Amino acid sequence: MKPLDVVILTDTHYYSKRNWVDGDPFAYPPAREQLFRRGSEEILRYVFDEICADGMPQIVLISGDLTNNGEVTSHTEMRELLRALKQRGKRVYVTTATHDYRGEGVSYGFDKDNHKVDVPAFKREDLRAFYREFGMDEAVSVHEPTMCYAVDLSPEYRLLALNDDKGYDHAGFTDECFAWIRTQAEEAKRNGQFVLAMTHHPVLSPSPLYRLIASGDLLENGETRAKQFADMGVPCMFTGHSHIHNISCITSDSGNTFYDISTSAVVGFPPNYRTVRFDPDNHRIEISTTTVDSVPSLDTGGLSLSAFTEKQFLGTVSDILDTAEHDYPAFQELANGFSLRPDKSAKLKWIIQPAAKYVNRLTFGKIWRWTKRQNGVTESEIQPQKNNKVVPFAVSMVANLYRGDASLPKDSVEYRIASAFFKKLDRVSKPFSKKLQNAGVDSLSSALLPLLHNDSLPDANYTINL
Ligand SMILES: [Fe+2]
Ligand SMILES: [Fe+2]
Repeated sequence: MKPLDVVILTDTHYYSKRNWVDGDPFAYPPAREQLFRRGSEEILRYVFDEICADGMPQIVLISGDLTNNGEVTSHTEMRELLRALKQRGKRVYVTTATHDYRGEGVSYGFDKDNHKVDVPAFKREDLRAFYREFGMDEAVSVHEPTMCYAVDLSPEYRLLALNDDKGYDHAGFTDECFAWIRTQAEEAKRNGQFVLAMTHHPVLSPSPLYRLIASGDLLENGETRAKQFADMGVPCMFTGHSHIHNISCITSDSGNTFYDISTSAVVGFPPNYRTVRFDPDNHRIEISTTTVDSVPSLDTGGLSLSAFTEKQFLGTVSDILDTAEHDYPAFQELANGFSLRPDKSAKLKWIIQPAAKYVNRLTFGKIWRWTKRQNGVTESEIQPQKNNKVVPFAVSMVANLYRGDASLPKDSVEYRIASAFFKKLDRVSKPFSKKLQNAGVDSLSSALLPLLHNDSLPDANYTINL
């Protein structure tokens, strides 16, 4: 069996400038988030040029959230970019996801005064015909209700392009859809084909913390499905949605391992895509990551795109803490972009404001004193960082969540103090331990420590041994 090479990118969140009139979507606070939608067109043009360089794979997979929020303008321009990619010799396969349609067919743009205005968006039923030339036209089978499809990329390889949005908020596969998936995998096996697969939502949580805070964003019964996939000969799945760059695995009772290969949003932080070589004869899948370096047509203030999007995103996280203390209305607007609704944040002002004030002043020296008996850090070791604020460190943990491969040395002063502090949190949170376990984490420290040092699989570059 000849090896097969593919490029995988996801969560392109293309946002057409035609929705902005003369406004600047960056002036709208929630636009300052983990994504850089204002630059989506420039980033995608640049990435598609990179993908078309000599030696790059011919097959390109995109696993959903193609647009900002399903605007007709965004879809129209996105499809033009995909068509251009095809004209340059690429074979392009896409699936859509919940950001590609609106139930009422209305998304938002901005007028020249930066006020939000309604713009037309696709409904879910518009998507099948619109993107049919990027997969479905070639399909050997389509599961019509979900728009899942199977394509024989060659006599030796079959692609399962799965759609898990189920047409409403919760992500997953119905038993009936899963039976269709199983049939496709079994048929591939009979044909002697190797199966590769993509879907939008995480099958496995990209991080214990993600499971704790966003369990509703995981594929329904993900771990069960993952083991079923492993047992039916689907060893890995490309996923998106979380915008987290991660590789996780789980092994079924029969000893088959399934890998969830989640790729960060190419228009966000970190701006990554992956190239993957499937080499079943040598029992290997080689996964590597490309971080988009600089996009000359974008003004990133002299920074690389990665550094720029990191600054934007992390700036927002520290702005949240800063405004919570000094400018509560601005905080409410920012927090709304992270799913804390303004009415709720108004109600919680009494606790949020003093908590922010406290956290903003917290230093390593203070935590060192609290955890003196557990942290093993001597007075002379803490001395140089005694007055360092904790906020930038906490913000860097958020960056590590998205970037993956956290690598703070375990013998560093920061690691020892932070881990002693998290262990303390475990004791304080003991009354809630059942609740935490129900949410899928053993303890708070087990959710937080991987953001300092990753002991699980490498996230960016990794070779799976089949
Ligand atoms: Fe997304
Ligand atoms: Fe998504």
